[in-house]
Amino acid sequence: MITFKDIELETNDISFRPTLITEACAKVVDFKEKKILDLGCGIGPLAIYFALNGAKEVTASDIYDEHIKLTSLNAKKNKANIKIVKSNLFENISEEFEVICCDVSGVEKKIAEITGWFPEGVPKADDSGANLIIRVIQDSLNFLKNNGELFICATSFSDIAKIEKTMEENYENSWEKLYVEKVPFSKRLKGNIDLLSFNDHIVEIENNFFWQIFIYKLKK
Ligand SMILES: C[S@@+](CC[C@H](N)C(=O)[O-])C[C@H]1O[C@@H](n2cnc3c(N)ncnc32)[C@H](O)[C@@H]1O
Repeated sequence: MITFKDIELETNDISFRPTLITEACAKVVDFKEKKILDLGCGIGPLAIYFALNGAKEVTASDIYDEHIKLTSLNAKKNKANIKIVKSNLFENISEEFEVICCDVSGVEKKIAEITGWFPEGVPKADDSGANLIIRVIQDSLNFLKNNGELFICATSFSDIAKIEKTMEENYENSWEKLYVEKVPFSKRLKGNIDLLSFNDHIVEIENNFFWQIFIYKLKK
């Protein structure tokens, strides 16, 4: 059992655990009084948090059976009223939302493995870290109400140039980088420094390395 924002969550060794990105989403996503989709819900921390803190209607979706099972268990345990849909991205989604919060796997595969962030079995992004995020951006306009907002999480371990190009192609100028957080390299990342492909989004300050969390807001 773990706790996220006072919400008790059952978990296990083959499931994803809430991270600093989950915390950041809870802080910046505009969910109050909104009909919201939590895409890539993991074991349910954000969907449950949104439901218990003033969202109008919450749907949680994920491709991974273990996460669907735990989200359902955790929603019951916390008396959170959410709809849960097993879906490969938008495949089984048939409604429109005022807000979509997308924290789908967006870390390049090698990093997902090195860091231990993604236990074996949890579906990962490809080597660019961007394939799933890009598909979400491309398809999202079909699942947003007019004036709806899409929140996209990415990191220094995602191909940011490709992601931002897709935003421009699909949302023109209606997108912004809403949130940036620098996170010091963990011991495991430091230990695997030779395997990292350095880019502009990995920052070095006084011999310490930081990766970054980015949250974008895109408006239909
Ligand atoms: C970074 S985790 C985030 C989990 C959760 N939002 C949290 O904060 O704990 C990414 C999630 O995306 C899910 N995922 C990966 N590929 C997916 C796909 N094709 N469709 C839907 N969800 C997917 C994974 O199973 C995982 O739960």
